[in-house]
Amino acid sequence: METPKHIVGVQHGWNLMSANYQSESDISVDEVHYAPLSYGENSLNLLDDVTGKNLVELGSGGSQNAMALAKLGARVTAVDFSPSQLSHAVSESVKQKTTIDFLQADIQNLTYFRDRTFDGIISVFALEFIEHLDVFFSECNRILKKGGQLILSTTHPLGAFEWDADTSTLNVTDYFNPPVEMWKEDDQEYFGVTYFRTVEELFTNVVDNGFTVKVLLEPKPLEFDKEHLSPYKGNYWTEYRDRVNSVPFAIVIKALKQ
Ligand SMILES: C[S@@+](CC[C@H](N)C(=O)[O-])C[C@H]1O[C@@H](n2cnc3c(N)ncnc32)[C@H](O)[C@@H]1O
Repeated sequence: METPKHIVGVQHGWNLMSANYQSESDISVDEVHYAPLSYGENSLNLLDDVTGKNLVELGSGGSQNAMALAKLGARVTAVDFSPSQLSHAVSESVKQKTTIDFLQADIQNLTYFRDRTFDGIISVFALEFIEHLDVFFSECNRILKKGGQLILSTTHPLGAFEWDADTSTLNVTDYFNPPVEMWKEDDQEYFGVTYFRTVEELFTNVVDNGFTVKVLLEPKPLEFDKEHLSPYKGNYWTEYRDRVNSVPFAIVIKALKQ
């Protein structure tokens, strides 16, 4: 079946953005990150013990989380469909002396994994590129063992709306129908698409696919003088600091397969 043009757009877009994104981001390979400028795993303690566990990172990009998990003693598979992102990940993983199975594949449907393969799934800032949440979560359920953990971070629905530059206020036009964002880098042939979901839509999709939600967070950025403690930062966040201080950028969910 031919890949839809907007999926080709996302993949091509990430190939084009990868070099800049990786050089301008400051993402830890020693601590799992969930949200920009916010506390990571060392403070949030979301993960059940991962020692010796079989984990997969979906939409792994530079796969910094996969490396951090491997350093905690997990066996990790990292999946992304952007060769440029994975190429960065592979070189960094060699430097970090971590052993990770890298797979270049589309995460919308996980047919390439057998049932009940993994003890845990982590996916950070990739869900917003997935069109059919129900298919994604039912596949997550299929590849997880019973009791397996699903750790997600995605763009907060309020991130869909425009800020008024003069008043620095957020114009939430219709929360119940968040806009779908079409985006394109220079040289990109097809538009990529980012989907925003209300908290209810996201929560319901997780629960309806056989998971129990244990934690739901809307992480607040750290105070400026503590920002260095965040495993996910980068200079480009400076201009958005005031905004992310007042409106959450990410929504984080920990759920367990029933
Ligand atoms: C914002 S980056 C996040 C990367 C990483 N998880 C992190 O936290 O730094 C989004 C990643 O999702 C990947 N991605 C988006 N849609 C995908 C899909 N359908 N299949 C596989 N990877 C996808 C992109 O290639 C990109 O590397």
